[in-house]
Amino acid sequence: MPDLSKAGTFTLGDRPVHRLGYGAMQLAGPGVFGPPKDHDQALAVLRDAIAAGVDHIDTSDFYGPHVTNRIIREALSPYPANLTIVTKLGATRGDDASWNPAQSPDDLKRGVDDNLRNLGIETIDVVNLRVMHSPFAPAEGPIAEQFSTLADLQRQGLIRHLGLSNVTAAQVREAQGIAAVVCVQNLYNLANRDDDALIDSLADEGIAYVPFFPLGGFNPLQSNRLNNLAERLGATPMQVALAWLLRRSPNILLIPGTSSVAHLRENLAAAELELPEDAVTELNAITAS
Ligand SMILES: NC(=O)c1ccc[n+]([C@@H]2O[C@H](COP(=O)([O-])OP(=O)(O)OC[C@H]3O[C@@H](n4cnc5c(N)ncnc54)[C@H](OP(=O)(O)O)[C@@H]3O)[C@@H](O)[C@H]2O)c1
Repeated sequence: MPDLSKAGTFTLGDRPVHRLGYGAMQLAGPGVFGPPKDHDQALAVLRDAIAAGVDHIDTSDFYGPHVTNRIIREALSPYPANLTIVTKLGATRGDDASWNPAQSPDDLKRGVDDNLRNLGIETIDVVNLRVMHSPFAPAEGPIAEQFSTLADLQRQGLIRHLGLSNVTAAQVREAQGIAAVVCVQNLYNLANRDDDALIDSLADEGIAYVPFFPLGGFNPLQSNRLNNLAERLGATPMQVALAWLLRRSPNILLIPGTSSVAHLRENLAAAELELPEDAVTELNAITAS
């Protein structure tokens, strides 16, 4: 088993979590819709993650929908006391697998209820508001009504901490005027670095930055330079991509997704990979090429 403590911890909400965690989106069926191809393998991935020391799992009730949360409950409930589960609200799925905004106060309240019921818990550790002004990238627009709704649900004791996903720096500031923000989850990886300035400002405030698609998501990272470098380091390209993110900033928490125990173990082993300075320089240049 890899030693996750090698990559350190960062406080998420009110407790430290290992910087290498797990994202559960890949546990649903193809297109993040319906049941997984291999239910037992999905349970095994989650149990293996916990056995390896993972204490931060990212999910949503719109994965499946409901599928991922129910698998998490089946695999892990009663949950380890040190496990932080983070979910996100703001969308629903159509019968055709489409992703549709669900941002009204009623939608958000229903989303909290769905997560509580399907995860089998009474309070959610962290809820991210998944902003949908543009589904694929952050876009300016107000989020006060939605974030205020979540802040109300937090005051009612249904949510411990709040975060944001798919947001701009201005939206982070807008939300902070309503309630504390403990994490931001946006697209960021070796090949997509639009959030460099945001990561640094969140680090200054002690706020976690949790990149989604750390391995490229639906289009896994592909680069000859990455492959050659990984070979030189005796690691895999995915491990190098994760180690680069760990190195990028101490407030980065990783949630690589996989449906495979072998890939899970490979990804978690990135905690032990120390990148030499010349490798970091080479990786930093990848998007510039
Ligand atoms: N807030 C948002 O809008 C948002 C959006 C997307 C995702 N997320 C969250 O972020 C998490 C991470 O994103 P993601 O799962 O979409 O993408 P990802 O972690 O960038 O990559 C997952 C893809 O890489 C493959 N993979 C994983 N490990 C691998 C390895 N060692 N070697 C080769 N291929 C490997 C997976 O396939 P296998 O299953 O075959 O390993 C899967 O196709 C999600 O699980 C979800 O919790 C949030």
